[in-house]
Amino acid sequence: LMTLADLSAPQIHRILVHSHYLKQISLPWLQPGKLWKQKPSQSLDKKTVALLFSKRSTRTRVSAETAATLLGGQALFLGKEDIQLGVNESPRDTARVIGGMCQGIFARVGDHSEIEELAKYSPVPVLNALSSLWHPTQILADLLTLHEHAHLFSPSNVAEYKSIDDKRWTALPELRPLTVAYVGDSANVLHDMLVTYPRFGHSLRIASPENERYRAPKAVWDRVVELECDKKIWWGADPKEAVHGADVVVTDTFISMGQEAEKEERLRDFQGYQVTEQLCKDGGANPDWKFLHCLPRKPHEVDDEVFYGPRSLVFPEADNRKWTIMSLFDLLFGKWNLHSDKITA
Ligand code: CP
Ligand code: NVA
Repeated sequence: LMTLADLSAPQIHRILVHSHYLKQISLPWLQPGKLWKQKPSQSLDKKTVALLFSKRSTRTRVSAETAATLLGGQALFLGKEDIQLGVNESPRDTARVIGGMCQGIFARVGDHSEIEELAKYSPVPVLNALSSLWHPTQILADLLTLHEHAHLFSPSNVAEYKSIDDKRWTALPELRPLTVAYVGDSANVLHDMLVTYPRFGHSLRIASPENERYRAPKAVWDRVVELECDKKIWWGADPKEAVHGADVVVTDTFISMGQEAEKEERLRDFQGYQVTEQLCKDGGANPDWKFLHCLPRKPHEVDDEVFYGPRSLVFPEADNRKWTIMSLFDLLFGKWNLHSDKITA
């Protein structure tokens, strides 16, 4: 699973329903003395998931390690200083060897081609923990957070959403179609938003500087068009225009991991793109707008008033990395069926 573009909308929703369910049953289970009705799935019993991370991580790594424990298995962290990959060994050989001993690979890489190569040669499923192009597990957590906070958004237009019919989805609070604004760089987090939100009826309004380097690369835009998501995407350069009517405002760092040398230039190009109360007021966002950020956060892209204020859902969003990754580990690695490319519950 390289990007959420690889899954159908019902598959994505199934993962979210399962995340919500795992969270509901696991939280009481984790508190001594609390009554719990169900033990979480133990589908990783005797299994090991390799965490092949060539970049830093707090949320994704901790989510993966704690989720694997809850599912009865083990996560094996393999940082770039620990193994032969990239120095003495190719991704092809590494994928085959790790895949011969572990039951899944959760990989965080630099260039997206690196994870494509791992997936090509791995005998076990490979899940993208972030690459230059995509960050699928982040958008699952963002969607779960929005569903859980659906009561904060006025309940108009629920009918359109209900038309994406699947009775098993009902456990998750319903969410009306939202207007989601993204102000910032066209990077991995935004790219998975582009191929996902429109398929659930949400409109995207994006502002990034005119320069091509801050716009979606062809490999991403091709997937957007293939999924007909472009019909619900507005993209301009003016942050105020982007937040117009926004129910949710999202941003990400202007300097992604690996772009540190471009810091000065990027900070210059992104002047005026900081998410603030004033920006959203001037742009005419929904007065009840809420804020999301994948973290780690720097003040360049959002000020403290918004980030730590009552609109901010960033910490529930960070918590939800665990439950969505647990859901994926359970479905992809725990219940993986060699003879099927379908996700089964
Ligand atoms: N949001 C996210 O992926 O955080 P980490 O880099 O800390 O894993
Ligand atoms: N776009 C950021 C996301 C971090 C979770 C990066 O790639 O560094």
